[in-house]
Amino acid sequence: MRRKLIAGNWKMNGSRAALAELDGIAAAATRAPEVDVAIAVPFTLIAPAAERETGVSIGSQDVHGAAKGAHTGCVSAAMAAEAGARFSIVGHSERRADQGETDADVRAKAEAARAAGLSAILCVGEVLADRDAGRAEAVVTAQLAGSLPEGASGEWLSIAYEPVWAIGTGRTPTVEEVGAMHRAIRAELRRLVGEAADSVRLLYGGSVTGDNAAELLAADDVDGALVGGASLTAAKFVPIVEAAAGL
Ligand code: PGA
Repeated sequence: MRRKLIAGNWKMNGSRAALAELDGIAAAATRAPEVDVAIAVPFTLIAPAAERETGVSIGSQDVHGAAKGAHTGCVSAAMAAEAGARFSIVGHSERRADQGETDADVRAKAEAARAAGLSAILCVGEVLADRDAGRAEAVVTAQLAGSLPEGASGEWLSIAYEPVWAIGTGRTPTVEEVGAMHRAIRAELRRLVGEAADSVRLLYGGSVTGDNAAELLAADDVDGALVGGASLTAAKFVPIVEAAAGL
């Protein structure tokens, strides 16, 4: 049985004052012990977030693929771990687009995360032109094959399917479209890593809110959600955690 995972991604938002939101999120997590609850904060907030010891897993939104070296402005997985991160998002579409990250970069980042003892949430997703052209599944499974790290297993890796056109837009795919994509991702994972595929959690991400979470989480092969905008406050995030718990 795969436990449900509801992960928030604060992106370039938040401040020390905003960490008070974690207390309300932690209270909901306590009421939903069968759900794993995690928040990826900006690097500067990892240590103060972790020091609150709320029980919510704190993570980073990226790590470098190398262990150390001359990479000005970058942060290694070991650095994020030392600050208190327990996981990292890798390959978010905003980084693939804004920072030009390739599948090979993303694979290196996931492997670096694992080497530092972090879990990883690896993101894949098609742009609207791909979906309109009927090649969404081909694009996403190719991204997955290109960015899947060595030793992929549910012990440390989750995959987030995030259609780029659904991120921050208020638009979501239908439950059928999400289910079809998650089945395609699971099938590709089985082809790539065999039985280990069944332990890997598949998250849906893109405009998840308290209003649509129950429906999206009920789609085929959806083990949780990666949530951007609606993770910034406890008021918006808690209903998503509750939906995952069936509360
Ligand atoms: P959103 O972002 O929930 O604001 O659409 C999701 C994400 O980018 O992970």
